[in-house]
Amino acid sequence: MSSHGDPIPMTSSKSGPLAGIAHVPGDKSISHRSLILGALSVGETRVTGLLEGQDVLDTGRAMQAFGADVINHGGGEWSVHGVGVGGFAEPEQVIDCGNSGTGVRLIMGAMATSPIVATFTGDASLNGRPMGRITDPLALFGTQAYGRQGGQLPMTLIGAAEPVPVRYTVPMPSAQVKSAVLLAGLNAPGQTVVIEKEATRDHTERMLTGFGAEVSVEQTDAGRVITLTGQPELKPQSIVVPRDPSSAAFPVCAALIVEGSDVLIPNIGLNPTRAGLFTTLREMGADLTYENEREEGGEPVADLRAKFSPDMKGIDVPPARAASMIDEYPILSVVASFAQGKTYMAGVKELRVKESDRIDAMAVGLRANGVEVDETEDSWTVHGLGPNGVAGGGTCATHLDHRIAMSFMCLGMAATSPVKIDDGGAIATSFPIFESLMTELGAAIRRDNR
Ligand code: S3P
Repeated sequence: MSSHGDPIPMTSSKSGPLAGIAHVPGDKSISHRSLILGALSVGETRVTGLLEGQDVLDTGRAMQAFGADVINHGGGEWSVHGVGVGGFAEPEQVIDCGNSGTGVRLIMGAMATSPIVATFTGDASLNGRPMGRITDPLALFGTQAYGRQGGQLPMTLIGAAEPVPVRYTVPMPSAQVKSAVLLAGLNAPGQTVVIEKEATRDHTERMLTGFGAEVSVEQTDAGRVITLTGQPELKPQSIVVPRDPSSAAFPVCAALIVEGSDVLIPNIGLNPTRAGLFTTLREMGADLTYENEREEGGEPVADLRAKFSPDMKGIDVPPARAASMIDEYPILSVVASFAQGKTYMAGVKELRVKESDRIDAMAVGLRANGVEVDETEDSWTVHGLGPNGVAGGGTCATHLDHRIAMSFMCLGMAATSPVKIDDGGAIATSFPIFESLMTELGAAIRRDNR
């Protein structure tokens, strides 16, 4: 089952060359945060280039349920009339966050220190994911949570009526946990401190500062220490959402493996906490260049040019880079299948608790297409077969996971025989124009008649 309807089986066949300009949608992480922080500020926040994927639309609906006014003006232009920090109303209905871990976890943080009750649910993927990592730190503020066994959704949160500020060291590399604690800290008096041992994406810190909150970041021996002064009045902003490097990863990687390709992907955010995949690909010998490098809205941005790269070599991806490319390992494993030699990816056990167990989902699907993969709990190795070496011919289960679905579609574009997926429905959560964009570049992908 796709997240919001019947399964959509798809087939991807040997394609190419891929050529042209690929305008990918807005950044998913920044889109969620624009709506949530817009809802927590007083007045009208304007957002340009919002990702209109299902995950973000679900967050927009949730913000409305908490009392904000979220208006779609068309063409990626949105506005949010916020209710201010501590101003959330109690929702009348259950909040359905669909497929989105980012949505539900950030929203739980945002409501956790207001004296209201809310019940959260999602699709089968989201309802199987761990929420204890959020409710444990929220309990320190005084928030109560009642979920299913194992700390899973559906779950009811009772917000703290008299929240206390918190000092919390995030036990796993997770921007969602860090962000949930910071958003909860907004309505607690005094200073909330979050310590992360490894840097994860820093959009929440950057955006909170942009909305006028007092946030300081210090690098210490214990890690990154983020200090937020509670109960600010957030001021509405005009936000231009940069294009998503995690979505750009698909046309970039497809171009690298499809013979003769040359694709330009303009205006991609290259925040160092997000750009680890591109560094890795260049280390493998990919013909990937940054053109027109510049700064926009405080974020580094460039146009990416990716060309067919038949001479890529497998590498050991440094575990310290994992957080900066955590969503890109599935598509990296596809590129690694077309490189010479082994690609070893370690320090990645977080991949097991994403929209699916991404190590397992990719390993099973790659093996079904003739690629050898070894795995341990927190590492995996892909044995590359070179530019023409992947047989294909397999059918892959996508487990309601958009990135698994798009990765196998890219595999099929360069494999000898077509690759099938059981359901591409989840692609709409983050990259609703994936099929049309890739087809225009020259990809042979289609929905199957059932
Ligand atoms: C995200 C954080 C990451 C990432 C997800 C988006 C965010 O999750 O995988 O797609 O926007 O904060 P974790 O916090 O679980 O690492």
